[in-house]
This record gives sequence, structure tokens and C-alpha cells, in this order.
Amino acid sequence: MRKGFFISIGIILVLVIAIVAYHRFQYETKTAFFHLFPIFRWKSMDQPILFNHLIHKEKLNLNCTFCHRYAERRRSAGIPNIDLCRACHATDAMSKKPEALKVVKYVRAEEEIPWKKMYGLPKFVVFPHWIHVQNGIDCSVCHGLTGKKERPVKMVDRNYMAGCMDCHKKRGASNDCYACHSS
Ligand code: HEC
Ligand code: HEC
Ligand code: HEC
Ligand code: HEC
Ligand code: HEC
Repeated sequence: MRKGFFISIGIILVLVIAIVAYHRFQYETKTAFFHLFPIFRWKSMDQPILFNHLIHKEKLNLNCTFCHRYAERRRSAGIPNIDLCRACHATDAMSKKPEALKVVKYVRAEEEIPWKKMYGLPKFVVFPHWIHVQNGIDCSVCHGLTGKKERPVKMVDRNYMAGCMDCHKKRGASNDCYACHSS
């Protein structure tokens, strides 16, 4: 009877601490969580074509901004489509792999590849790529394994408000609500 009582008090206490820690120290709790369970750090997504970042990097040594060409100058980085792929995949001369042949099909049909966007913040958040890239922050700081693994992944362990604010604090960037929440 008494034992049960103490166990339930213990459970309630742990829950209260967890809730307080989550709200008060969101960055620290999330970081600890993702260290304990690294498999939750990223999500993958099915795409119409299995685009392989590694092959394009290793065989051709292309920079990220060769394809994501707005990252250095604009708010969004941009996802390339057939107008870029056409340069190499207009025929099967460059690659005869089945996934590459799908690209040739889209290019020939003049049809945009319907990529699904993996990274996306809610509409009420402003995220300018160019400021970060011009400040020398590497793509991998936010996009992690993307570009180092074959398939792109969405890193969920860092692209949230407390994650943004932690770096802003360290780097002396603005943490004014309106810096990130104005249109
Ligand atoms: C040859 C062109 C090319 C190069 C070079 C390239 N990418 Fe990509 N990237 C793509 C394409 C095409 C997609 C969309 C397909 C997909 O998500 O699987 C994509 C998707 C992404 C995404 C996911 C975007 C989203 O929200 O859906 C990120 C992040 C990304 N690339 C980062 C990088 C980084 C970092 C590098 C350099 C290490 C890089 N890319 C180099 C073509 C390229
Ligand atoms: C500068 C030339 C170049 C550009 C631009 C380019 N590719 Fe490629 N692509 C290659 C080469 C080279 C290979 C590898 C050939 C091989 O090993 O078979 C390749 C391979 C591929 C493959 C097959 C990979 C696999 O493992 O199955 C896909 C899919 C692909 N490319 C998609 C794209 C898409 C989508 C775009 C446009 C966003 C694009 N590529 C732009 C040169 C290019
Ligand atoms: C400081 C973190 C950060 C850095 C550095 C960064 N990104 Fe992003 N990236 C994001 C966030 C956050 C989003 C989602 C943006 C949104 O929804 O407005 C995103 C979205 C994207 C997308 C999806 C398409 C788009 O334009 O929204 C691509 C592709 C991408 N980034 C590529 C890159 C590349 C390539 C680099 C390096 C040159 C880079 N990013 C550097 C945080 C970053
Ligand atoms: C790794 C560090 C880092 C991360 C992570 C980061 N930022 Fe930044 N951010 C910076 C730096 C550095 C600046 C430039 C400060 C300057 O030039 O004064 C900046 C500037 C900005 C600005 C312009 C601020 C102004 O004064 O107008 C906005 C908006 C912004 N970041 C939004 C975001 C958002 C949203 C995220 C999260 C998705 C994010 N940042 C993540 C380092 C970072
Ligand atoms: C450095 C950028 C940045 C700053 C500064 C910032 N936010 Fe945010 N905020 C974000 C991002 C990114 C999200 C989206 C989080 C997500 O979807 O995971 C967000 C989401 C929110 C949300 C939606 C609920 C939630 O937590 O997801 C509210 C409310 C909010 N912010 C209020 C504020 C207030 C109030 C301030 C000033 C104290 C502020 N923000 C400062 C980047 C920022």
C-alpha cells in the first residue's frame, strides 16, 4: 500500500520534471534526447526519383550551390528541376541507371519532377539562407547528413525555434521576435 503510494509520487515527480524541463530548457532537453536516441535525429521521405547526392558530388565534384543556386543570394535555396538536369540527362549518355532514365523521361516530356519539399518552416517564420551562407555557416550545420549520405534527410534535431535561438545567442545574431516572425 505505502510502496504503491511512493511509486506513484515518484512517477508524478518525474513527469513534472520532464514537463518543466521541456518547456524551460527545450534546447537542452531535445539535445539530450537526440543524443540518447540518434535514430530520431532525421526523417527520410519518398521522392518520385531517388536522387543521389553522393554520386553527383563524387563523380562531378559539384558544389551544393551549383544546384541549389539561390542559397547565397536569396531567402530560399531552391530545388533544381529539369531545366538543370537537362544539361546532363537529356539522353542516357551520362548514365543508364534506371533512376537516371526516369529523369530523361521527365526532361523529354518537358514535365517538372514533382519533388516533395522536406524542409519547411511554418509560414510565420522568416528564414533567409543568404545571411547564413554569407556568414560562413556550412550547409551541414542545419542539413546534417544531406549531401554526405546518398539520400537527403530532414534533420529534425536542430531546425526548431530553440535551436535557431541557441546559435543566435552564441553568434550575437538577433533574437528579437520580429527578426524571425515578420513577413
Ligand atoms: C546535382 C544537383 C545537386 C547538388 C550538387 C546538390 N543537390 Fe541537394 N538536392 C538536389 C535535388 C534534385 C533535390 C531534390 C530531391 C530530393 O529531395 O531527393 C535536392 C534536395 C536537397 C535537400 C532537401 C530539400 C527539401 O527541402 O526537400 C537539401 C537540404 C539539399 N539538397 C542539400 C544539399 C547540400 C547541402 C548539397 C551539397 C553538399 C547539395 N544539396 C548538393 C540536387 C542537388
Ligand atoms: C553536370 C552533370 C549532371 C547534372 C547537372 C545532373 N546529373 Fe544526374 N548524374 C550525373 C552523373 C555523371 C551520374 C552518374 C553516372 C553513373 O554512375 O551511372 C548521374 C546519375 C544520376 C542518377 C542515377 C543515380 C543512381 O544511383 O541511380 C539520377 C537519379 C540523377 N543523376 C538525377 C539527376 C537529377 C534529378 C538532376 C537535376 C536536378 C541531375 N541528375 C543533374 C550527372 C549530372
Ligand atoms: C542556419 C541553417 C541553415 C543553413 C546554414 C542552410 N540551410 Fe537550407 N534550410 C534551412 C531551413 C530552416 C530551411 C526551411 C526554410 C523554409 O521553410 O523557409 C531550409 C531549406 C532548404 C532547402 C529546401 C528548398 C528551399 O529553398 O526552401 C534546400 C534545397 C536547402 N535548404 C539547401 C541548403 C544549402 C545548399 C545550404 C548551403 C549552401 C543551406 N541550405 C544552408 C536551414 C539552413
Ligand atoms: C549556426 C548558427 C545559426 C543557426 C542555427 C541559425 N542562425 Fe540565423 N543567423 C545566424 C547569424 C550568424 C546571422 C547573422 C547575424 C548578423 O549578420 O548580424 C543570422 C541571421 C538571421 C536572421 C536575420 C536577423 C536580422 O538581424 O535581421 C534571421 C531572420 C535568421 N537568422 C533566422 C534564423 C532561423 C529562423 C533559424 C532556424 C531555422 C536560424 N536563423 C538558425 C546564425 C544562425
Ligand atoms: C531565430 C529565430 C526565431 C526567433 C528570434 C523567435 N522565433 Fe519563434 N519560431 C521560430 C521558428 C523556426 C518556429 C517554428 C518552429 C517549428 O515549426 O518547429 C517558431 C515558432 C514560434 C511559435 C509557434 C509555436 C511553437 O513554439 O512552435 C510561437 C508562438 C513563437 N515562435 C513565438 C516567438 C516569440 C514570442 C519570440 C520572441 C521571444 C520568438 N518566437 C522568437 C524562430 C524564431
